[in-house]
Amino acid sequence: MKNEFLLKAVNINKSYSVGTFIKKRRQILDNINIDIKAGEIVGCVGESGSGKSTLARIITLLESPDNGKLIFEGKPANAKDIKFRKGVQMVFQNPVSSFDPTKTIGKSIKEPFNGFSLSYNRDKVYALFDRMHLPVSILSKKPYEISGGMAQRAAIARSLVADPKLLVLDEATSSIDATIQLELVELLFEIKERRKIGYFVISHDLELINYMASRVYVLYEGRVVEYGNTDEVYNNPRHPYTKKLLN
Ligand SMILES: Nc1ncnc2c1ncn2[C@@H]1O[C@H](COP(=O)(O)OP(=O)(O)OP(=O)(O)O)[C@@H](O)[C@H]1O
Ligand SMILES: [Mg+2]
Repeated sequence: MKNEFLLKAVNINKSYSVGTFIKKRRQILDNINIDIKAGEIVGCVGESGSGKSTLARIITLLESPDNGKLIFEGKPANAKDIKFRKGVQMVFQNPVSSFDPTKTIGKSIKEPFNGFSLSYNRDKVYALFDRMHLPVSILSKKPYEISGGMAQRAAIARSLVADPKLLVLDEATSSIDATIQLELVELLFEIKERRKIGYFVISHDLELINYMASRVYVLYEGRVVEYGNTDEVYNNPRHPYTKKLLN
């Protein structure tokens, strides 16, 4: 079938230059292969430093891989291509710092309209706020004047302005109180059903991934050491790291 995968990363490698006096290249991602189908929720787990956020930045092309290919809707992805930039959006861990502290939420919400050459549509913003259970009164507030949970829902509302096909959620619920984390996850499920959107959910929280994702990739020291249906991986882990992780 054509375009079976919404996004496919093929043999992705990434290294960074490290060291103050003696510069060395450190391999952060080592030959990563992942794929995400349209409307699918795919998880990514791994310990701190395993390369999850680096992978997130690469599949959204906020950074380029050293080599490897990224295919979006059957074509090589290009960071300059507006279809790709609209189609794949990132939601970061820290909701408050994902907004400019000097600007009101309302001003920040206007940015993607400008960035994607769309005319500002207040009804759309109001509808997205309604969907995210947010009062429109926060549009006149600064990010630090609202709760972390609200700021994260506003960040998700903003990421939906461009009608993306995929949201990359990098620990997007981790900094939120456990009590409202579930509410946010339920909202994400609702959005997925209505919009047929896919999620790449990055988390160190195995329970969250189990709850949300139908498939999972396990990252360890920059490599995918195991992947498959979440149930199968969780019930029958094969790699020693996954066994330890699930212990
Ligand atoms: N710009 C950079 N320059 C040099 N090293 C970097 C850079 N960005 C990340 N790293 C290193 O790459 C490794 C992977 O980092 P990354 O943030 O992708 O891990 P992570 O799995 O997201 O960790 P966490 O769970 O703590 O968020 C770490 O050792 C980190 O120090
Ligand atoms: Mg990270």
